[in-house]
Amino acid sequence: MCGIIGYIGEKNAVPVIIDGLKKLEYRGYDSAGIAINIGNELKIEKKQGRIINLEKSLDNDLYANVGIGHTRWATHGEPSEINAHPHYNIDKSIAVIHNGIIENYTELKKWLEGEGIKFISETDTEVVAHLVSYYYNGDLVKAVTESLKRLRGAYALGVVAKDEPDKIVAVRKDSPLVIGLGKEENFIASDVPAILKHTKNVLYLDNDDMAILTKNEVKIFNGNGDRVERDIETIEWDMEAAEKGGYPHFTIKEINEQPEGIQKVIDRRINDDGKIVLDGINLSKDDIEKISRIYIVACGTSYHAGLVGKYVIEKFAKLPVQVEIGSEFRYKDPLIDDKTLIITVSQSGETLDTLQSLRIAKEQGARIMSIVNVVGSSIARESDDVFYTWAGPEIGVASTKAFTTQMLTFYLIALFMADKLEVIEKEKYDSIIKEIKKIPNDIQTILDNYKDIQKIADEQFNNEKIFFIGRGLDVEISYEASLKLKEISYINSQAIAAGELKHGTIALIEEGTLVVAIATQDKLYEKMLSNIKEVKARKGSILSIAKEGNNEINDISDYRLSIPNTIDILTPLLSIVPMQLFAYYVSVARGNDVDMPRNLAKSVTVE
Ligand code: F6R
Repeated sequence: MCGIIGYIGEKNAVPVIIDGLKKLEYRGYDSAGIAINIGNELKIEKKQGRIINLEKSLDNDLYANVGIGHTRWATHGEPSEINAHPHYNIDKSIAVIHNGIIENYTELKKWLEGEGIKFISETDTEVVAHLVSYYYNGDLVKAVTESLKRLRGAYALGVVAKDEPDKIVAVRKDSPLVIGLGKEENFIASDVPAILKHTKNVLYLDNDDMAILTKNEVKIFNGNGDRVERDIETIEWDMEAAEKGGYPHFTIKEINEQPEGIQKVIDRRINDDGKIVLDGINLSKDDIEKISRIYIVACGTSYHAGLVGKYVIEKFAKLPVQVEIGSEFRYKDPLIDDKTLIITVSQSGETLDTLQSLRIAKEQGARIMSIVNVVGSSIARESDDVFYTWAGPEIGVASTKAFTTQMLTFYLIALFMADKLEVIEKEKYDSIIKEIKKIPNDIQTILDNYKDIQKIADEQFNNEKIFFIGRGLDVEISYEASLKLKEISYINSQAIAAGELKHGTIALIEEGTLVVAIATQDKLYEKMLSNIKEVKARKGSILSIAKEGNNEINDISDYRLSIPNTIDILTPLLSIVPMQLFAYYVSVARGNDVDMPRNLAKSVTVE
């Protein structure tokens, strides 16, 4: 999704902004632009395509101490130079960058056109530039304040005016915006990597906050116009964590970071006695007993983690759970009251569909817990309790390390609840904790065997379609494996419960069709062998994933991958890893942009 950066200070704003935009590339974008104040004019440059195109178009001696920059991911209007941000008013004295959507832009546009203003782009953002200009009378803050009264929708805005080179005005409503605090310089950004090179001290704006940045000061006003202070937070990770560190892509780096990520969660959440530590989250036996219904709400990969979450909460804690897609949940009038527990799951913590579901549930009295990776994100801030996944920055668009840490968090929540409710025997609890502690090593074993997977990918990358089948928990991992493959390889892929295959989808199996059979559940293993045989009988090819030692599957598989032995319920933490590697190597073999697959964005802040 779109990215925002703004700079005001002693340095030349141009390289700071261009560098910041590059750090935001991972969010996904199709055009980029910059507006800087060079004294007698706002210099605005925009280009379709990569940031390098924009960089090349800028004069080498361009210099300014204040400016804003933007990467756009098209929503209203095709990707083009005209539709790229910043947008500006008629005489180019006001420039605006915007993330989000102005819902009433058609109505505002009509009105502004009636006032004689000619629009040049197809975007919703252009109305903001003209609106601010309409109210501008030498005071940018006032003009933005007046404009906000007329805007509906979600927005993070950065606004500069030619005649006020000493300030940037920034606004946040339902779209993330962070303020970076430096020495004689301040920044705005849609997310931290854009400014991390310059400062680790940030503050997150609340909804409806307006920030006025000068070189030496940041003043914040809330939605009522009152001056407010927001806590300054220190970012714990450094740029190295947001760089490739010798790997060719972020995606493979992040796949390889999983043993470390899982270990971190184990270290922070399981104490020496094997007890689960919730870190300030108050979840007493009474609280849990009061819960009549749990909804897990999420999108995409996080939704798949939720499917595993449902399975383990029901198995361990014996509580009923429903898993819902964020974009559906909010519109289906779900049954919610103060006995409902909502668990939202989100890597970015900014996914609007999930965030809006959270808000609706909160309004209706539910307790909101969240499993979130990005510290200080909207979902984290608006939840009653947050389980951070501590996976570190995930830059590759395809979510990998966030997924495994989300799943692990669910296991720990489920075990915690089961323990509190006294519905799990101590021996069982202890043995699961013991097995969980082995997971980082087991993942490492899979990663060390990457060459086997790469070889299969190199032989199979030209497939037009690939199916994934599994039973029990392996179905949930099939969904995630299939999503991973399709988003970075662009191969048409479908995941289906293995037993469902014969009810229709088997019609698509032809000679050579690759079917990935995930068969890690001991009690369903025999059944999986039968389903694999059904595929083989139609001359399909099989890539199977089974626990080591389960070798009957070899004879009916064209390719075989193993995961280390663990208890059935924990296999998702392992079986997804070879699937991530498979998707990655297929994508590389096809020559795709692995980290930034077409049409996708890292943080989906539109509905
Ligand atoms: C897939 C992927 C997406 C996200 C989805 C939700 O690899 O990354 O499907 O999982 O957009 O994003 P978050 O977790 O940030 O809410």
